[in-house]
Amino acid sequence: MKHQHTPLNHQQLCPNLTFYDLYPPATDMLAEVSQSLSAPAPSLHPKYFYDEAGSALFDRITRTPEYYPTRTETSLLTGYAEEIRARLNQPQTIAEPGAGSCEKVRLLLDAWQPRHYMPLEISRECLLGASRQLAQDFPDVHISAVCADYCQAMAMPQALAQPGRVVFFPGSTIGNFEPAARGEFLKGLRTLAGPGGALLIGADLQKPDTRLNAAYNDAEGLTAAFNMNALHHLNRELGCQFDTDNMQHVAFYNTARQRIEMHLECLSDQHIHLGERTLTLKSGTRIHTENSYKFTVESFSAELVAAGFTPLSCWTDPQNLFSLHLAQV
Ligand code: AVI
Repeated sequence: MKHQHTPLNHQQLCPNLTFYDLYPPATDMLAEVSQSLSAPAPSLHPKYFYDEAGSALFDRITRTPEYYPTRTETSLLTGYAEEIRARLNQPQTIAEPGAGSCEKVRLLLDAWQPRHYMPLEISRECLLGASRQLAQDFPDVHISAVCADYCQAMAMPQALAQPGRVVFFPGSTIGNFEPAARGEFLKGLRTLAGPGGALLIGADLQKPDTRLNAAYNDAEGLTAAFNMNALHHLNRELGCQFDTDNMQHVAFYNTARQRIEMHLECLSDQHIHLGERTLTLKSGTRIHTENSYKFTVESFSAELVAAGFTPLSCWTDPQNLFSLHLAQV
Protein backbone atom coordinates (compact mmCIF):
# COMPACT_ATOMS: atom_id res chain seq x y z
CA MET A 1 0.00 0.00 0.00
CA LYS A 2 2.70 2.43 0.98
CA HIS A 3 4.16 2.25 -2.53
CA GLN A 4 0.85 2.58 -4.35
CA HIS A 5 1.47 6.19 -5.32
CA THR A 6 5.18 6.05 -5.99
CA PRO A 7 5.19 4.73 -9.54
CA LEU A 8 8.86 5.47 -10.01
CA ASN A 9 9.96 3.16 -7.24
CA HIS A 10 12.71 1.20 -8.92
CA GLN A 11 15.74 -0.95 -8.34
CA GLN A 12 18.86 -1.28 -10.44
CA LEU A 13 19.29 -5.06 -10.52
CA CYS A 14 22.31 -5.15 -12.79
CA PRO A 15 23.99 -2.62 -15.09
CA ASN A 16 21.47 -3.09 -17.89
CA LEU A 17 18.36 -4.03 -15.89
CA THR A 18 16.09 -1.64 -13.97
CA PHE A 19 13.05 -3.06 -12.22
CA TYR A 20 10.02 -0.79 -11.76
CA ASP A 21 7.27 -1.97 -9.47
CA LEU A 22 3.82 -0.43 -9.90
CA TYR A 23 2.44 -2.84 -7.30
CA PRO A 24 -0.48 -4.18 -9.32
CA PRO A 25 -3.46 -4.40 -6.98
CA ALA A 26 -4.38 -7.97 -6.00
CA THR A 27 -7.83 -9.03 -7.19
CA ASP A 28 -10.33 -10.63 -4.82
CA MET A 29 -10.29 -14.06 -6.42
CA LEU A 30 -13.09 -15.51 -4.29
CA ALA A 31 -15.45 -12.61 -5.03
CA GLU A 32 -14.63 -12.66 -8.73
CA VAL A 33 -15.00 -16.43 -9.12
CA SER A 34 -18.18 -16.57 -6.99
CA GLN A 35 -19.78 -13.94 -9.15
CA SER A 36 -18.88 -15.46 -12.50
CA LEU A 37 -19.77 -19.04 -11.50
CA SER A 38 -23.14 -17.96 -10.04
CA ALA A 39 -24.22 -16.09 -13.17
CA PRO A 40 -27.04 -17.58 -15.30
CA ALA A 41 -24.36 -18.51 -17.86
CA PRO A 42 -21.45 -19.58 -15.60
CA SER A 43 -18.00 -18.55 -16.72
CA LEU A 44 -14.42 -18.28 -15.53
CA HIS A 45 -11.88 -15.71 -16.67
CA PRO A 46 -9.17 -17.33 -18.86
CA LYS A 47 -6.45 -15.94 -16.57
CA TYR A 48 -7.22 -18.88 -14.25
CA PHE A 49 -5.59 -21.27 -16.74
CA TYR A 50 -2.22 -19.75 -15.99
CA ASP A 51 -0.62 -21.00 -12.81
CA GLU A 52 2.75 -22.76 -13.06
CA ALA A 53 1.23 -25.98 -14.41
CA GLY A 54 -1.04 -24.07 -16.82
CA SER A 55 1.82 -22.03 -18.27
CA ALA A 56 3.83 -25.23 -18.79
CA LEU A 57 0.82 -26.84 -20.50
CA PHE A 58 0.35 -23.81 -22.75
CA ASP A 59 4.00 -24.02 -23.71
CA ARG A 60 3.50 -27.66 -24.72
CA ILE A 61 0.30 -26.80 -26.65
CA THR A 62 2.29 -24.36 -28.79
CA ARG A 63 4.45 -27.29 -29.91
CA THR A 64 1.62 -29.69 -30.85
CA PRO A 65 1.16 -30.40 -34.56
CA GLU A 66 -2.41 -29.06 -34.39
CA TYR A 67 -1.72 -25.67 -32.76
CA TYR A 68 -0.38 -23.70 -35.74
CA PRO A 69 -0.50 -20.06 -34.41
CA THR A 70 2.78 -19.94 -32.50
CA ARG A 71 5.00 -21.55 -35.08
CA THR A 72 3.38 -19.63 -37.92
CA GLU A 73 3.83 -16.31 -36.16
CA THR A 74 7.44 -17.17 -35.34
CA SER A 75 8.16 -17.91 -38.98
CA LEU A 76 6.60 -14.57 -39.97
CA LEU A 77 8.67 -12.71 -37.39
CA THR A 78 11.84 -14.50 -38.50
CA GLY A 79 11.18 -13.97 -42.17
CA TYR A 80 10.17 -10.32 -41.95
CA ALA A 81 12.15 -8.93 -39.00
CA GLU A 82 14.50 -7.02 -41.30
CA GLU A 83 11.71 -5.65 -43.43
CA ILE A 84 9.81 -4.50 -40.34
CA ARG A 85 12.91 -2.86 -38.94
CA ALA A 86 13.45 -0.95 -42.17
CA ARG A 87 9.80 0.06 -42.28
CA LEU A 88 10.14 1.48 -38.76
CA ASN A 89 13.44 3.19 -39.47
CA GLN A 90 15.48 1.19 -36.96
CA PRO A 91 13.33 1.30 -33.83
CA GLN A 92 15.21 1.80 -30.56
CA THR A 93 12.58 0.92 -27.96
CA ILE A 94 10.32 -2.12 -27.77
CA ALA A 95 7.57 -2.30 -25.13
CA GLU A 96 5.76 -5.59 -24.54
CA PRO A 97 2.64 -5.75 -22.34
CA GLY A 98 2.02 -9.19 -20.82
CA ALA A 99 5.56 -10.19 -21.76
CA GLY A 100 5.50 -13.45 -19.74
CA SER A 101 8.69 -15.36 -20.36
CA CYS A 102 9.96 -12.73 -22.88
CA GLU A 103 10.74 -15.51 -25.37
CA LYS A 104 9.37 -14.15 -28.64
CA VAL A 105 11.01 -10.78 -28.31
CA ARG A 106 14.46 -12.41 -28.44
CA LEU A 107 14.00 -12.72 -32.14
CA LEU A 108 13.46 -8.95 -32.46
CA LEU A 109 16.26 -8.08 -30.05
CA ASP A 110 18.61 -10.17 -32.19
CA ALA A 111 17.44 -8.73 -35.46
CA TRP A 112 16.90 -5.09 -34.47
CA GLN A 113 19.47 -4.59 -31.71
CA PRO A 114 17.42 -1.82 -30.09
CA ARG A 115 18.78 0.25 -27.19
CA HIS A 116 15.87 -0.41 -24.90
CA TYR A 117 13.34 -3.15 -24.09
CA MET A 118 10.46 -2.66 -21.69
CA PRO A 119 8.57 -5.83 -20.68
CA LEU A 120 5.38 -5.24 -18.67
CA GLU A 121 4.09 -8.16 -16.68
CA ILE A 122 1.76 -8.67 -13.73
CA SER A 123 3.65 -11.67 -12.31
CA ARG A 124 6.62 -10.24 -10.41
CA GLU A 125 8.33 -13.61 -10.16
CA CYS A 126 7.97 -14.38 -13.84
CA LEU A 127 9.15 -10.89 -14.83
CA LEU A 128 12.19 -10.97 -12.57
CA GLY A 129 13.29 -14.38 -13.83
CA ALA A 130 12.78 -13.60 -17.50
CA SER A 131 14.30 -10.12 -17.44
CA ARG A 132 17.38 -11.20 -15.48
CA GLN A 133 18.08 -13.89 -18.07
CA LEU A 134 17.47 -11.47 -20.92
CA ALA A 135 19.79 -8.87 -19.39
CA GLN A 136 22.55 -11.46 -19.35
CA ASP A 137 21.90 -12.63 -22.88
CA PHE A 138 21.60 -9.11 -24.34
CA PRO A 139 24.17 -6.98 -22.49
CA ASP A 140 23.81 -4.12 -24.99
CA VAL A 141 20.07 -3.71 -24.47
CA HIS A 142 18.85 -1.75 -21.47
CA ILE A 143 15.89 -3.53 -19.93
CA SER A 144 13.27 -1.57 -17.97
CA ALA A 145 11.13 -4.32 -16.47
CA VAL A 146 7.78 -3.02 -15.24
CA CYS A 147 5.62 -5.03 -12.86
CA ALA A 148 2.10 -3.79 -13.61
CA ASP A 149 -1.29 -4.96 -14.81
CA TYR A 150 -2.60 -4.04 -18.23
CA CYS A 151 -4.47 -0.93 -17.08
CA GLN A 152 -1.54 0.50 -15.16
CA ALA A 153 0.70 -0.36 -18.06
CA MET A 154 -1.15 2.00 -20.31
CA ALA A 155 -0.36 4.93 -18.00
CA MET A 156 3.37 4.40 -17.86
CA PRO A 157 5.66 6.23 -15.46
CA GLN A 158 6.64 9.49 -17.09
CA ALA A 159 10.34 8.83 -16.66
CA LEU A 160 9.95 5.81 -18.91
CA ALA A 161 7.98 7.63 -21.55
CA GLN A 162 10.07 7.78 -24.67
CA PRO A 163 8.52 8.77 -27.94
CA GLY A 164 8.55 6.30 -30.77
CA ARG A 165 8.10 3.06 -28.90
CA VAL A 166 7.21 -0.07 -30.80
CA VAL A 167 4.60 -1.97 -28.83
CA PHE A 168 4.89 -5.70 -29.45
CA PHE A 169 1.80 -7.81 -28.73
CA PRO A 170 2.29 -11.24 -30.28
CA GLY A 171 0.44 -14.56 -30.01
CA SER A 172 -3.07 -13.45 -31.00
CA THR A 173 -3.79 -12.81 -27.33
CA ILE A 174 -5.84 -9.92 -28.69
CA GLY A 175 -8.33 -12.61 -29.80
CA ASN A 176 -9.00 -13.49 -26.16
CA PHE A 177 -10.61 -10.08 -25.54
CA GLU A 178 -14.32 -9.48 -26.10
CA PRO A 179 -14.98 -7.02 -28.95
CA ALA A 180 -15.70 -3.93 -26.81
CA ALA A 181 -12.81 -4.61 -24.43
CA ARG A 182 -10.58 -5.28 -27.43
CA GLY A 183 -11.28 -1.82 -28.83
CA GLU A 184 -10.43 -0.22 -25.49
CA PHE A 185 -7.31 -2.33 -25.11
CA LEU A 186 -6.08 -1.37 -28.60
CA LYS A 187 -6.56 2.29 -27.67
CA GLY A 188 -4.49 1.62 -24.54
CA LEU A 189 -1.74 0.14 -26.73
CA ARG A 190 -1.81 3.32 -28.79
CA THR A 191 -1.27 5.35 -25.60
CA LEU A 192 1.57 3.05 -24.61
CA ALA A 193 3.23 3.44 -28.02
CA GLY A 194 2.97 7.22 -27.71
CA PRO A 195 3.29 9.86 -30.44
CA GLY A 196 5.46 8.59 -33.27
CA GLY A 197 5.15 5.04 -31.98
CA ALA A 198 3.94 1.86 -33.63
CA LEU A 199 2.26 -1.46 -32.90
CA LEU A 200 3.39 -4.89 -34.08
CA ILE A 201 0.62 -7.35 -33.29
CA GLY A 202 -0.33 -10.93 -34.19
CA ALA A 203 -3.91 -11.87 -35.10
CA ASP A 204 -5.14 -15.37 -35.87
CA LEU A 205 -7.13 -15.74 -39.09
CA GLN A 206 -10.49 -17.31 -39.92
CA LYS A 207 -10.16 -20.64 -41.70
CA PRO A 208 -12.13 -23.87 -42.17
CA ASP A 209 -13.67 -25.16 -38.94
CA THR A 210 -11.88 -28.51 -39.09
CA ARG A 211 -8.49 -26.83 -38.79
CA LEU A 212 -9.62 -24.56 -35.96
CA ASN A 213 -11.40 -27.33 -34.06
CA ALA A 214 -8.30 -29.53 -34.27
CA ALA A 215 -6.09 -26.73 -32.90
CA TYR A 216 -8.20 -26.58 -29.71
CA ASN A 217 -8.75 -30.35 -29.41
CA ASP A 218 -5.24 -31.72 -29.86
CA ALA A 219 -4.83 -35.48 -29.94
CA GLU A 220 -2.50 -35.53 -26.94
CA GLY A 221 -5.19 -33.90 -24.79
CA LEU A 222 -3.00 -30.97 -23.75
CA THR A 223 -5.64 -28.32 -24.46
CA ALA A 224 -8.15 -30.37 -22.46
CA ALA A 225 -5.68 -30.52 -19.56
CA PHE A 226 -4.98 -26.78 -19.91
CA ASN A 227 -8.71 -26.01 -19.75
CA MET A 228 -9.21 -28.34 -16.77
CA ASN A 229 -6.24 -26.73 -15.04
CA ALA A 230 -8.41 -23.71 -14.29
CA LEU A 231 -10.40 -25.97 -11.94
CA HIS A 232 -7.28 -27.49 -10.35
CA HIS A 233 -6.10 -23.92 -9.80
CA LEU A 234 -9.38 -22.96 -8.08
CA ASN A 235 -9.40 -26.17 -6.02
CA ARG A 236 -5.93 -25.35 -4.76
CA GLU A 237 -6.39 -21.61 -4.17
CA LEU A 238 -10.00 -21.49 -2.97
CA GLY A 239 -10.72 -25.09 -1.93
CA CYS A 240 -13.64 -25.27 -4.40
CA GLN A 241 -13.62 -29.09 -4.57
CA PHE A 242 -14.47 -29.43 -8.24
CA ASP A 243 -14.65 -33.12 -9.08
CA THR A 244 -12.49 -32.85 -12.20
CA ASP A 245 -13.03 -36.53 -13.11
CA ASN A 246 -16.61 -35.54 -13.81
CA MET A 247 -15.86 -32.46 -15.88
CA GLN A 248 -15.21 -32.50 -19.59
CA HIS A 249 -13.31 -30.22 -21.98
CA VAL A 250 -15.47 -28.83 -24.81
CA ALA A 251 -14.03 -26.62 -27.57
CA PHE A 252 -15.61 -25.69 -30.90
CA TYR A 253 -15.62 -22.99 -33.53
CA ASN A 254 -18.69 -20.76 -33.34
CA THR A 255 -18.96 -19.67 -36.97
CA ALA A 256 -21.56 -16.98 -36.40
CA ARG A 257 -19.41 -15.26 -33.77
CA GLN A 258 -16.10 -16.07 -35.45
CA ARG A 259 -14.54 -17.45 -32.31
CA ILE A 260 -13.34 -20.65 -30.72
CA GLU A 261 -15.23 -21.22 -27.49
CA MET A 262 -13.84 -23.31 -24.67
CA HIS A 263 -16.09 -24.67 -21.94
CA LEU A 264 -15.94 -27.16 -19.09
CA GLU A 265 -19.03 -29.31 -18.94
CA CYS A 266 -20.31 -30.94 -15.73
CA LEU A 267 -20.86 -34.68 -16.26
CA SER A 268 -22.53 -34.94 -12.83
CA ASP A 269 -23.92 -32.39 -10.35
CA GLN A 270 -21.00 -30.43 -8.91
CA HIS A 271 -21.23 -29.03 -5.38
CA ILE A 272 -18.69 -26.23 -5.33
CA HIS A 273 -17.35 -24.61 -2.17
CA LEU A 274 -17.01 -20.85 -2.46
CA GLY A 275 -15.94 -19.57 0.92
CA GLU A 276 -18.89 -20.12 3.26
CA ARG A 277 -21.25 -20.92 0.39
CA THR A 278 -21.94 -24.06 -1.60
CA LEU A 279 -22.98 -23.66 -5.22
CA THR A 280 -24.50 -26.53 -7.16
CA LEU A 281 -23.81 -26.72 -10.88
CA LYS A 282 -26.21 -29.22 -12.42
CA SER A 283 -25.02 -32.04 -14.64
CA GLY A 284 -24.91 -30.72 -18.20
CA THR A 285 -24.00 -27.16 -17.13
CA ARG A 286 -21.18 -25.63 -19.12
CA ILE A 287 -18.70 -23.19 -17.63
CA HIS A 288 -17.48 -20.89 -20.38
CA THR A 289 -13.72 -20.50 -19.93
CA GLU A 290 -12.38 -18.78 -23.06
CA ASN A 291 -13.16 -17.17 -26.38
CA SER A 292 -10.51 -16.95 -29.04
CA TYR A 293 -11.71 -14.64 -31.83
CA LYS A 294 -10.48 -15.17 -35.37
CA PHE A 295 -10.13 -12.31 -37.85
CA THR A 296 -9.66 -11.50 -41.49
CA VAL A 297 -6.84 -9.16 -42.48
CA GLU A 298 -9.49 -6.59 -43.36
CA SER A 299 -11.54 -6.96 -40.17
CA PHE A 300 -8.48 -6.63 -37.96
CA SER A 301 -7.12 -3.66 -39.92
CA ALA A 302 -10.49 -1.96 -39.45
CA GLU A 303 -10.22 -2.50 -35.68
CA LEU A 304 -6.77 -0.93 -35.71
CA VAL A 305 -8.14 2.09 -37.56
CA ALA A 306 -11.05 2.36 -35.10
CA ALA A 307 -8.50 2.46 -32.26
CA GLY A 308 -6.66 5.36 -33.90
CA PHE A 309 -3.83 3.52 -35.67
CA THR A 310 -2.80 3.81 -39.31
CA PRO A 311 -2.07 0.34 -40.69
CA LEU A 312 1.32 0.22 -42.41
CA SER A 313 1.73 -3.41 -43.49
CA CYS A 314 0.42 -6.88 -42.87
CA TRP A 315 2.25 -10.14 -43.43
CA THR A 316 0.63 -13.57 -43.71
CA ASP A 317 1.98 -17.07 -44.35
CA PRO A 318 1.38 -18.90 -47.67
CA GLN A 319 -1.53 -20.86 -46.15
CA ASN A 320 -3.15 -17.72 -44.73
CA LEU A 321 -3.22 -19.14 -41.23
CA PHE A 322 -1.99 -16.15 -39.25
CA SER A 323 -1.39 -12.43 -39.70
CA LEU A 324 1.19 -10.00 -38.36
CA HIS A 325 0.12 -6.36 -38.48
CA LEU A 326 2.25 -3.26 -38.29
CA ALA A 327 0.45 0.00 -37.60
CA GLN A 328 1.56 3.47 -36.60
CA VAL A 329 0.11 5.85 -34.07
C1 AVI B 1 -3.21 -17.25 -25.39
N1 AVI B 1 -4.16 -17.44 -26.45
C2 AVI B 1 -3.79 -16.66 -27.64
C3 AVI B 1 -4.44 -18.86 -26.78
C4 AVI B 1 -5.50 -18.95 -27.91
O1 AVI B 1 -5.24 -19.65 -28.86
O2 AVI B 1 -6.52 -18.27 -27.80
C5 AVI B 1 -4.92 -19.62 -25.57
C6 AVI B 1 -5.29 -21.04 -25.88
N2 AVI B 1 -6.38 -21.62 -25.50
C7 AVI B 1 -6.39 -22.86 -25.91
N3 AVI B 1 -5.29 -23.10 -26.59
C8 AVI B 1 -4.57 -21.97 -26.56
